[in-house]
Amino acid sequence: MPASIKEKIDLTNLPKHIAIIMDGNGRWAKNRNMPRVFGHKNGVTSVREVSEACAELGVGCLTLYAFSAENWGRPTLEVNALMSLLVETVKKELSTLNKNNIRLTAIGDLSKLPSKTYNTLMDGINDTKDNTRMTLNLALNYSARNEMIQATQRIAELVASGNLDVSAIDHTTIQDQLDTKDMPDPELLIRTSGEQRISNFLLWQIAYSELYFTDTYWPDFRREDLYIAIHNYQMRERRFGKISEQVTITEI
Ligand code: FPP
Repeated sequence: MPASIKEKIDLTNLPKHIAIIMDGNGRWAKNRNMPRVFGHKNGVTSVREVSEACAELGVGCLTLYAFSAENWGRPTLEVNALMSLLVETVKKELSTLNKNNIRLTAIGDLSKLPSKTYNTLMDGINDTKDNTRMTLNLALNYSARNEMIQATQRIAELVASGNLDVSAIDHTTIQDQLDTKDMPDPELLIRTSGEQRISNFLLWQIAYSELYFTDTYWPDFRREDLYIAIHNYQMRERRFGKISEQVTITEI
């Protein structure tokens, strides 16, 4: 067993895009008799470590499910704390993002975020827009079903205005209307905390993603855990509906 599983990772076969459902902050805090927000604050350390590790390896895009459209239903105190944490984190990490050539982007209905969160986020996105090493994409007020509704509405408008033939609608038409239009689909989706659900995250984009579930709570999910997940992904055979012999010969 090498000192780090990192040495076993094949750098020529990295996922171009990793998506993560960061779950278990509340339970992590509860286990320590601390308020849920304590878990979220510690979750930020994992965000930093995992982002750094992805950038260092050469993963092109990392999408983090930071706040779902359903999360508004949590106690106001927790929602406010999460929104403030986001402001604090973006401000604090901005220089590191730029130093490491990382671009910040966001998906979801950002217009519904509190103005301070929205403005800080937009500043962060704008200040890092020319960075090229990795995209750190935050899903905020995100719902995959809402994203699909919006995409459908835009496509319907194109048809109604005579700019698109119904018969011309294909995968690309839909892909082009999603928030993730400029990103490859995630090859690897990770969910922490033992839950094995997708929870309305990137439903279109994960059609062929490898799913990796771990019992580790998000605040405990660090660099080494990411390496294990990537290594596990690399041990799998991705067949895309074909048979084993075809995928070993043919590039998909
Ligand atoms: C899920 O754990 C976690 C969230 C809904 C929020 C994730 C937010 C962070 C890690 C911090 C802010 C992020 C950034 C990018 C600055 P949970 O609260 O559902 O945990 P539980 O299932 O144990 O209750």
